[in-house]
Amino acid sequence: ADAIVRPQHAAHPKIPLPGDLFAPERRNSRGVEFGARAALDGLLTEVKAETIDLKPIADATPDQANAAVAAARAGFAAWSRTPAATRAAALEQAAHLLENRAPHFIALLQREGGKTLDDALSELREATDFCRYYAVQGRKLFGNDVAMPGPTGESNALAMRGRGVFVAISPWNFPLAIFLGQVTAALMAGNSVVAKPAEQTPRIAVEAVRLLHEAGIPASALHLVTGDGRIGAALAAHPDIGGIVFTGSTEVARSINRALAAKDGPIVPLIAETGGINTMIADATALPEQVADDVVTSAFRSAGQRCSALRLLFVQEDVADRMIEMIAGAARELKIGDPSDVATHIGPVIDVEAKQRLDAHIARMRREARLHFAGTAPEGCFVAPHIFELGDAGQLTEEVFGPILHVVRYRAENLERVLQAIERTGYGLTLGIHSRIDDTIEAIVDRVQIGNIYVNRNMIGAVVGVQPFGGNGLSGTGPKAGGPHYLTRFATEQTVTINT
Ligand code: SER
Repeated sequence: ADAIVRPQHAAHPKIPLPGDLFAPERRNSRGVEFGARAALDGLLTEVKAETIDLKPIADATPDQANAAVAAARAGFAAWSRTPAATRAAALEQAAHLLENRAPHFIALLQREGGKTLDDALSELREATDFCRYYAVQGRKLFGNDVAMPGPTGESNALAMRGRGVFVAISPWNFPLAIFLGQVTAALMAGNSVVAKPAEQTPRIAVEAVRLLHEAGIPASALHLVTGDGRIGAALAAHPDIGGIVFTGSTEVARSINRALAAKDGPIVPLIAETGGINTMIADATALPEQVADDVVTSAFRSAGQRCSALRLLFVQEDVADRMIEMIAGAARELKIGDPSDVATHIGPVIDVEAKQRLDAHIARMRREARLHFAGTAPEGCFVAPHIFELGDAGQLTEEVFGPILHVVRYRAENLERVLQAIERTGYGLTLGIHSRIDDTIEAIVDRVQIGNIYVNRNMIGAVVGVQPFGGNGLSGTGPKAGGPHYLTRFATEQTVTINT
């Protein structure tokens, strides 16, 4: 077990893939949703053969961060004038390179990010999807100016342009997909970029930037600055930036907002995607087996370290005992441990601080709530799934970023109170509904202001171009990553009127 303890920070050597873990008898096809078995076998062999350099990566100094902004500012002029078709072609080439190097990036996601094979595969898919989707959208939006109507003797055209230097601050939970999603959106819109990845996962970012440069993004248009929140704060306060895209905690989004507001000079927009106390409502008409499966997937997969993950389940009283029992039964089947083992469903949490925070929450819940289920986890940076029943939804006051599910019972006549409780959280990222009554579903959907709603399915794993993703209120400023309007938020518009 010691060999698979995740280090606290990337400065420590990461876990080597033990040789025997890919032995055929240890494979569990339930844990892997990827192509044909033969292709998977080939991929696994290649992933195992990858050597990943895990030497520590130095943090940038504030001077280096300033130099990166200055260099990006210099690079903006040429990049913003580069035709949209050329910018799009570079993104498509990046997607192609990512796919060609799948084994390498999967190994990297496992060893630096602690991702299971399932999660690494879907993250790689999402990263390539972002590149291709923004290329397609970018050609449409930025390829040609839009002719506007006007009187005879006058031509009017509307163009979309980059805003300048975009700062992209990304989280450790999707160190490849969100990192590349932010950066490629900003680049496609004609901005130059200074990217600041999470301090826990800098190597994935270094390799992603190298790949983008190789794919045709000029070095002058894309710069990487490593470090912790202090470097992010310095970038936000810099006088020469044109925009910020941030994914992470609500608290940090607020501090960026304050830094932007306190600056003299241009008004700088913030695109923020933060967390949520995400809820699901399961009524007495729902299919219990499906609820159990979807709850376990939504609350525990990826060790609950998704901003979309389910935190608070409202179950109708009439079916609550049976449903909780089935959910606990399904949770009992989950295997927690080494993420490089294909049979593993839940890998480590990201670092020691995360584990300590989650353990403290579990200890508090053991005192204040009714424990229905506690899984077992190996020694190290692992947190076992837990299910607690709360007397009142208000007992959960903040996002708990791990595999801990809270359940509250409600009576059918009190659905309105459930909706009020959801509203009171202030968050608006994801919501699950399990019901077979169309009127109930419609009434809930009409009532809530939540970015992504999933009915009679799980509530994680938004697909690029299919479920544009992003939330409201405490969950963010609203733009939808992987949606048709996202790129417009990175651009500014210019109208040119010519008297002919
Ligand atoms: N985009 C991710 C998901 O939908 C969020 O963390 O699960």
